[in-house]
Amino acid sequence: TEMRPVQDQTAVKAMPDAATVTHVQHWTDRLFSFRVERPATLRFRSGEFVMIGLMGDPDPKTGKQKPLLRAYSIASPSWDDELEFYSIKVQDGPLTSKLQHIKAGDQIILRPKPVGTLVHDALLPGKRLWLFATGTGIAPFASLIRDPETYENYDDVILTHTCRDVAELDYGKELVENVRNDEMLRELMGDGLDKLRYYPTTTREESPRMGRITDLLKDGTVFRDLGIDSVSPETDRAMVCGSIGLNTDLKEILEGYGLREGANSEPAEYVVEKAFVG
Ligand code: A2P
Repeated sequence: TEMRPVQDQTAVKAMPDAATVTHVQHWTDRLFSFRVERPATLRFRSGEFVMIGLMGDPDPKTGKQKPLLRAYSIASPSWDDELEFYSIKVQDGPLTSKLQHIKAGDQIILRPKPVGTLVHDALLPGKRLWLFATGTGIAPFASLIRDPETYENYDDVILTHTCRDVAELDYGKELVENVRNDEMLRELMGDGLDKLRYYPTTTREESPRMGRITDLLKDGTVFRDLGIDSVSPETDRAMVCGSIGLNTDLKEILEGYGLREGANSEPAEYVVEKAFVG
């Protein structure tokens, strides 16, 4: 093997954790998703997040650049050979104002240390799994509903997604359709995939089902629509990912049903994580 010149090694060290973008899709003027090559050594549990970002602008005084990193849930399942992310675009956001312009072939920074609480390990065994998302909070569930383990562990999987407008539901709609038609998942899970139920709602634009999921739970609409009695700590498990407001309100509702918050170190009946960017 050939000796590498010293300068080359320094260059490699200065740009660690680079991942090449393979695909970008813009869903609305506020939302986009993208895929990057998966580092060969990166292992994660479906539902976890990693830190990703770009190099920031050079410091005007020193000219030095620092990485600008944010937590992003991995939206792809753990068997996928690429990593997918789903992001909001904030026009004056330090990272997303830049990140929204990435193209296939560009590189982003990806710190390969996945962590998070929206994982099967943090829940006790149960019969029915609720995945409650608002906005980009659907990302970790995009991973979980493509993971065979989800269907092995539960008899029913209910994904609820609440957004302001109809177009903001498109990513989730397409995701669920793709899961149902995925040949590999079909082959593995067979009818098991029919366990997946999808419950989209909007709050500001007219759609077939309107309202915040919190209100629809409180007044029993969700249960009537899905033909379910209620939520009980014996059978039901839940994962929550959305705005701080959603997380707080839903925690109270779930605790009201008798569910307790779990963690990796102490599994229980529900887990929560905020949808990070935005
Ligand atoms: P709303 O339109 O009533 O605020 P955002 O785009 O602001 O992240 O919100 C995404 C979705 O989450 C919106 O439909 C919003 O409804 C809903 N939402 C915001 N806060 C809460 C909350 N505390 N409980 C339930 N849903 C919420």
